[in-house]
Amino acid sequence: MTDAPVDPTSTAAWGRLTALAADFTPDLRRWFEEDPHRVDRLTYDAGDLHVDLSKALLDDAVLPALLALADEVGVAARRDAMFAGEHINVTEDRAVLHTALRLPADATLEVDGQDVVADVHEVLDRVYAFADQVRSGAWTGVTGERIRTVVNIGIGGSDLGPVMAYEALAAYRQDGLECRFISNIDPTDAATTLAGLDPATTLFIVSSKTFGTLETLTNARLCKAWLLDGLASADPTDAVAKHFVAVSTALDKVADFGIDPANAFGFWDWVGGRYSVDSAIGTSLAVAIGPERFAELLAGFHTMDEHFRTAPPERNVPLLLGLLNVWYTNFLDAETHAVLPYAQLLHRFPAYLQQLTMESNGKGVRWDGSPVTTDTGEIYWGEPGTNGQHAFYQLIHQGTRLIPADFIAFAEPSYPLVDGAQDVHELFLANFLAQTAALAFGKTADEVRAEGTAEAVVPARVFTGNRPTTSIMAPALTPSVLGQLVALYEHLTFTEGVVWGIDSFDQWGVELGKQLAQKVGPAIAGDTDALAEQDASTQALIAYYRKHRTK
Ligand code: F6P
Repeated sequence: MTDAPVDPTSTAAWGRLTALAADFTPDLRRWFEEDPHRVDRLTYDAGDLHVDLSKALLDDAVLPALLALADEVGVAARRDAMFAGEHINVTEDRAVLHTALRLPADATLEVDGQDVVADVHEVLDRVYAFADQVRSGAWTGVTGERIRTVVNIGIGGSDLGPVMAYEALAAYRQDGLECRFISNIDPTDAATTLAGLDPATTLFIVSSKTFGTLETLTNARLCKAWLLDGLASADPTDAVAKHFVAVSTALDKVADFGIDPANAFGFWDWVGGRYSVDSAIGTSLAVAIGPERFAELLAGFHTMDEHFRTAPPERNVPLLLGLLNVWYTNFLDAETHAVLPYAQLLHRFPAYLQQLTMESNGKGVRWDGSPVTTDTGEIYWGEPGTNGQHAFYQLIHQGTRLIPADFIAFAEPSYPLVDGAQDVHELFLANFLAQTAALAFGKTADEVRAEGTAEAVVPARVFTGNRPTTSIMAPALTPSVLGQLVALYEHLTFTEGVVWGIDSFDQWGVELGKQLAQKVGPAIAGDTDALAEQDASTQALIAYYRKHRTK
């Protein structure tokens, strides 16, 4: 599907939204007072997710105009093309089929002459069998001991998804079996992650879609050296065979690294790195939570896929949230978007979303190579509440910038409650609710005065309100709910990308730095020719490094 993107700014809906934005004076207090049905009208259910947009900066005119925009730029057609396996990743000429990773085994989807569902489930079955072997102790290390620690070596999508989900689903992990994650090429990462581990009971999963990523291959080599050093009396080939498995689309490179292809799990070029936690890239997670729970995670993703594929536009939650982001970004000039989970176990979720959203939509050209016609992407960031409340919420409440924020909370805590903990969970939820209310409705000068505040400090204590939030609730942070949540953000990111006319599935912007690093490396190591090719700033910084290093 290579048709030229529709310029969103040329649509009638864009003109309408521009006019609406020019006169837009949000007043959530008044909107709530005047419309007793606002909450009902703007609350949506998608699978297990309950999404309240009543505190968003939306009025009766904006929402239909946003839906008209989606219609005019052809979101539905491109969504259908994605689900059908058309090559909507234009700059890489690839299908975009992370949704196929979570299709049930009895589904069929033929792409480029191949039944991808059969392929997906063949690999899943192998991942599940491997996970069962490690969990049961049937898979032993080279000394015959069972595996106690699984270390995933990967970066970007080959790290963020597994680590985010491992943390989120902590309550579902098997006792006595730990996962750790090495991503950074800073050797400190490997050193601190491996500290205290016994090579005899440690198994590495080298996760890399391309198996060409410098950080991952370097860390894999470090870990191999650490392993062979610690298991000096074992045959090195046997040690690697029992302690290293790989996940990649490049199985030939896996073999070159010395890992038996029998111990490798494949996936396909139609899975983007940041969309790959539900592929074999999630093997460490499958080991941690077990095949049954992993299957529930996939089913959760599929639930949201089906919602996005089939729900009518006016009830289609990922579509609505993507359009709402367009409204905030392009018409109300928001530059960032906060994600504030009221669930400690989602502490890596904002970092995960940074790659998903910013690597997808941080683009300056459209899929036909022409420049974008409006701002694209948002800067995603966040921390779990209530920690954020005591750090950066001040700026959200009273700063000069508009920061739309997603608040995420669960009715049930992830761990069974000890005595008295129900009250604490309710206190936690009270913070979630109080913050969204404070942001929406604020506090007027008269209300501040009524509290007996001295006039001089009244302005400092006024809250303007009308600071937009989306509240997302679910019964509990289960594997299925996590899958639904991730898929929700995948599809809202897709929606924004189609509006902007960009290819949300390439990431050329990370290439230049990688190429330059290859050239700078020799310069740091002392190659004078390579040093001479560097710019003056780089040369000076290398000189500083060489002067201060101790070895
Ligand atoms: O950062 C660029 C990127 O290509 C990401 O898209 C990807 O998730 C990451 O590098 C890791 O790539 P790989 O899985 O091929 O090692």
